[in-house]
Amino acid sequence: MGFELSLTSFVKAQKKLYDEGIDNVRLVMVDGRFGLRELFRDSSVRKVFVNFPCPWSKKGHENRRVTAGDFVQSLASVLEMDGEFELATDDRKYALEVHELLSQGGFFDVKPVEINPDRKIKTRYERKWIEEGRTIHLVKARKIKDTSVQRLTWEESAVHVKIENLNEGKMPSLKGKVYKGRNDRVFVVKEVFKDFDGESYYMKLISSDKGFDQHYNLILERKRDFWVLKIDNTCQPYRTPAVKWSLYKIKEELSI
Ligand SMILES: C[S@@+](CC[C@H](N)C(=O)[O-])C[C@H]1O[C@@H](n2cnc3c(N)ncnc32)[C@H](O)[C@@H]1O
Repeated sequence: MGFELSLTSFVKAQKKLYDEGIDNVRLVMVDGRFGLRELFRDSSVRKVFVNFPCPWSKKGHENRRVTAGDFVQSLASVLEMDGEFELATDDRKYALEVHELLSQGGFFDVKPVEINPDRKIKTRYERKWIEEGRTIHLVKARKIKDTSVQRLTWEESAVHVKIENLNEGKMPSLKGKVYKGRNDRVFVVKEVFKDFDGESYYMKLISSDKGFDQHYNLILERKRDFWVLKIDNTCQPYRTPAVKWSLYKIKEELSI
């Protein structure tokens, strides 16, 4: 299974798999940190590769790294015992920082960083950096202790809420509001639209769970003597705590 965020790279990879007749690979267009934690059971993965991730070297950008947040705990959860991890990069400082990160908590036996390893399969960036004469650093680790990371999307989730007494006049004031909740969950209402028939409203939202961002729409529909607020099915966000909370919080804001 592969994770990639860029649509262009994702499509190129799909095409390569198709052209070469490789049928045991599935690609998912989602943040690798999220995918690793949410899409695998504990102790179910043999090996995880991270190939030439963006090092985000600028000060203040560290939390954009694929290894940021609860990455190490997610990795230690989903790998089986003795399961392996390797991360290749041309950035020495980043390699040493990942080495240090993996050494904390006693989950991994971390090998000394290898320099210019001879990997059987070389990625596009690997070939490019080798051609340019850059040094490649390889961080390798083996899992030696079990743990279990908390998943954000594994609980059953209600997809709509009922609003008995709606304060309709408050609708326009939601636009631009930022809501910050527990555990680094945040959402912002970017736009509020009213349908021509006056029977429904649309809201464009962006939510964030510890830096995992999602764009989605909510729809508020008038029923006989109440309203229903739900996730619009034009896009299907993962039902994370921030997404679920946005429904309940907006209900609270709009109820008389
Ligand atoms: C320097 S390129 C390396 C591409 C390829 N792995 C290789 O080695 O040739 C970094 C890639 O990581 C992707 N990326 C960055 N952050 C990511 C994340 N959180 N989850 C998944 N992919 C990510 C980018 O879209 C980009 O295609």
